[in-house]
Amino acid sequence: MELLGVCASPHPEGISSKIMRKILEGAKEENAEVKEVMLSKVKLEPCKGCYDAKCWSSMTCNVEDDAIKIREELNECDGLVFVAPVYFLSLNGLAKNFIDRMRNYAKETKPSIVVTVAGGTGKGCILALQEACRWLTLINFFPIVAEPVTRYNLDAVLTVANNWGRKLVKSVDKVKRLKNLYEKVLAYEELPYMKYSLVDELMYLSEVEISAISHKGKHELVDDLSRKLEEAKALMSIAKFEEALKYIVEVQESAMKIFNELNQSS
Ligand SMILES: Cc1cc2nc3c(=O)[nH]c(=O)nc-3n(C[C@H](O)[C@H](O)[C@H](O)COP(=O)(O)O)c2cc1C
Repeated sequence: MELLGVCASPHPEGISSKIMRKILEGAKEENAEVKEVMLSKVKLEPCKGCYDAKCWSSMTCNVEDDAIKIREELNECDGLVFVAPVYFLSLNGLAKNFIDRMRNYAKETKPSIVVTVAGGTGKGCILALQEACRWLTLINFFPIVAEPVTRYNLDAVLTVANNWGRKLVKSVDKVKRLKNLYEKVLAYEELPYMKYSLVDELMYLSEVEISAISHKGKHELVDDLSRKLEEAKALMSIAKFEEALKYIVEVQESAMKIFNELNQSS
């Protein structure tokens, strides 16, 4: 069994590669063979959107670079690990460039693990995850784990990433075959986080920030914020959207500030 790990960060030793390697280590413990592609180290030009494109049905490309070699690896692998940083609430350019140049000719559904790393404020962690999951579902690499990573849950993720790799290996023969667009869209919509809006993401961030601060034994610093977040949810439930949003933004930004201060002082 062969798995492919793709890391879209420009930093070969950054957070994304660390997470990808933990996942691949878990897969190796289950006797999988793994290959790594660091997108910062390969030559991939942007897709030229050729009018005479034959790439949709055959292993060809009018651009001469590393795309065909990587595309072959993508087609040959039994499962994929895709880890990408978040830039401006979206997948970063290296990730999108890779996506645009890849084609998967296999009809069967293979499993994947996808992680987006929003290492700044955390914003975009879920919005970018949705982009990645849509792509993976459409090209027949259905995500069995799709996780948004921020500074607030990074430690927790690093402790379980190894298990994801093991899970990926075990899923290779079990992943549900998605036969048509209907089944793909349904499966995508049922994945966690896929229905989140930007506001839902801000609420999620508020929650993980508050939980990270509480985890440091400082819950008294966020008691008020927790109450405000509950109020915001109550306002949302009675369609008072604008009032709720004011609370949500306040809670998210205040909790982030407290988290940053605690990190600086420790
Ligand atoms: C141009 C640019 C835009 C960024 N935008 C975001 C963002 O929208 N949200 C966020 O949380 N972090 C943002 N970041 C921080 C990156 O997500 C973070 O540095 C990166 O994910 C770290 O991962 P790495 O060590 O694997 O490269 C941005 C970084 C850059 C360079």
